[in-house]
Amino acid sequence: MSDFAVAQSAAREEIRRGLLGNPPSISPKFFYDRVGSDLFERITRTPEYYLTATEIGILERNLQEIAAGIGPRAVLAEIAAGSARKARIVLGGLNAPAAYAPVDIAEEMLADQAAAVRRDFPDLKVIPVAADFSRDLAFPEFGFDHGGITVFYAGSSLGNFEPDDAAVFLARLARAAGPGSRLLLGVDRKKDKAILNRAYNDPGGLNAAFNRNILNNVNRLAGGDFDPEKWIPHQFYDEEKGRIELWLESAADQTVRVAGETLCIRAGDRLHTENSYKYDVDDVLTLAAPAWTPLHVWCDPDERFSVFLFAGRDTPPGGGAAATVE
Ligand code: AVJ
Repeated sequence: MSDFAVAQSAAREEIRRGLLGNPPSISPKFFYDRVGSDLFERITRTPEYYLTATEIGILERNLQEIAAGIGPRAVLAEIAAGSARKARIVLGGLNAPAAYAPVDIAEEMLADQAAAVRRDFPDLKVIPVAADFSRDLAFPEFGFDHGGITVFYAGSSLGNFEPDDAAVFLARLARAAGPGSRLLLGVDRKKDKAILNRAYNDPGGLNAAFNRNILNNVNRLAGGDFDPEKWIPHQFYDEEKGRIELWLESAADQTVRVAGETLCIRAGDRLHTENSYKYDVDDVLTLAAPAWTPLHVWCDPDERFSVFLFAGRDTPPGGGAAATVE
C-alpha cells in the first residue's frame, strides 16, 4: 500500500471507531481539509475570535525578548502550522534562524505554507514535515549545524487534548526536540463565558460552517453519505470543565452509511467534534513541568491569552526522567 492509502485506511478506522463510541465522536483533526482550513483561517480574522489577534499582539510586542530567550541559529519547528502567519513574525525576530520546519497533518496546506515562508525568507531552509503528530512525532535528522530545536505550538491548539494527554504530549515534544530545545507555546486563558461563547459563535456563522464541514471530510476519508444540512452545529463553553465543546445535533431521524457501518440516528442525537480547553497560567506550568522549565510568560493587558517560553529539561534519550533536584 502507498503511504497515502495507509494513512487513509488509518483515518477510516479511527473515524469508524469514533462514530461507534459513546458518545459518538469525530476527532477535531479531521476538520482540516482545504475548505476546513480556509474556514478556520477566516474564523481567525473575525473580531469575535480574539485568540489570533491577541496572540499575534503578544508575539509582536515581545519579539526581542522572545528571540533572546531562544538564541541564535534555532530551528523553528511549528506544530499544526496552519497559515504560518505567526511563525513568520517569530522568524522575523530570530537571530540567524537555521531553518523553519512546519509539521502538519494537512499535507496540501503544508506545501502552500512552505511556499509562503520561502517567499518571505528566501535564504532560510524550509523543511516541511508531514506527520500526524497526535500519533507519533520525530523530527528528521536535519543534517546541518543548528542551535537547537524550538518547538512552536501556537493558537491554543494544545486545548484539543484532554489535560492528561496534553501533559504527555508536551513531554513527547521535549523528547523529540532533544537537548538545548525551547518550547514557545500559546494558550488561551479561562475567562468570562460570554467572551468565549461569542468567539465560537460569530454572527457570520463561520464557526458553525467549520463545525459542520467535518462531515464532508469524513465522507471523503471514510466513504460516507452524511448530509451536513441535516446537522445543527453547537459551540458552547462549559465553565465547570473549562472547555469549549463542539457538537453536531441531528435535525431529523436519519440513516447514515459511513466507513462500512450503517448508523440509525434519531432527531436530537449528538455527535461530539471538539473540546478546546482553556488554561490559567499556573495550569500550563503544571502540565509542562515534568519536561519543561519555564523561562518567561507573556500576556496581553486584558489577560485573555498567554505565551510561554520554556527550556527543555534535557531528559536522557528514551524519556526516563532525569534526576533533578529542585
Ligand atoms: C485551532 C483548536 C485552536 O479551539 O479555538 C475554532 C479550533 N474550533 N473554532 C480552537 C476552532 C472552533 C481552534 N483551535
